[in-house]
Amino acid sequence: MKASIKPKKEGMGLLAIGITATDTEMGKTVVTGALAAALRFRGITPGIFKPVASGCVRRQDGELISTDAEFQMKCAGYPDTLRKEVIPVVLEAALAPAEASRLEGITLQPERMIEGAKACITGHEISVLEGIGGITAPITEDFLVKDYFKALGIPVLIVVKPILGNVNHAVLTSYYCQQHGIPVLGFLVNGWNEETAGDLEKGNLYYYEKLTGLPVLGKLPKMTEEEMNDPRKLALITEQTVELDKILELAKGMRI
Ligand SMILES: Nc1ncnc2c1ncn2[C@@H]1O[C@H](COP(=O)(O)OP(=O)(O)OP(=O)(O)O)[C@@H](O)[C@H]1O
Ligand SMILES: [Mg+2]
Repeated sequence: MKASIKPKKEGMGLLAIGITATDTEMGKTVVTGALAAALRFRGITPGIFKPVASGCVRRQDGELISTDAEFQMKCAGYPDTLRKEVIPVVLEAALAPAEASRLEGITLQPERMIEGAKACITGHEISVLEGIGGITAPITEDFLVKDYFKALGIPVLIVVKPILGNVNHAVLTSYYCQQHGIPVLGFLVNGWNEETAGDLEKGNLYYYEKLTGLPVLGKLPKMTEEEMNDPRKLALITEQTVELDKILELAKGMRI
């Protein structure tokens, strides 16, 4: 592999990047983990935090585990003991948190989520914060993912996929973010294959940028389980396919 781990850059100040997507299951967790792994191997322990996760899996000992948080913790090099800090609220139903919490009789507290995320951001040089579902997903009835990112005052990266219909979702997501005062860094294409990319995939790349004026900041390939589960391999693939320096520079300029 040609890419190498880059050395740590000094003097970026506190930076945070929100990770949203055009839909659920687009690869927010994988992208968050990929950025976290790349930062880790540059010598920066990234802040990671997910305010609530639904669809969690119950382990044999009864503990509910968020596979999203577990993956990110592994990528960032966190020990299991930090689980509660990274993911304070876990829900079992695979529904939006507003519905899952209602069914499970749990009252979600947006202020606590914002506090937790802010503590993560102030405690780390660079934080990468995965959202939940898409940008309007209801965390509670009156607190959507956009309210969460807006309250944190951080810019977001939108994870997109080179599939039919995604340009529409990408444009709508970016405009919605901006209308609500959330700066957008650009798009990160997930599941790119340079060898098989044809008119559909290349057309998507062209229209993401043309219709929004925002940049495509990376094309993360479809990876094997082995690549995704080895943080060093994941970091190398990320360095090779994602413009991490540009993402950090843009985030620095969009701090609000
Ligand atoms: N680049 C990739 N290569 C291979 N598999 C991937 C890649 N990106 C995502 N996946 C797989 O696709 C599925 C969805 O990805 P992921 O969990 O990251 O999505 P998400 O947007 O975080 O979903 P959610 O909204 O549930 O949090 C997972 O099984 C993940 O392992
Ligand atoms: Mg996820």
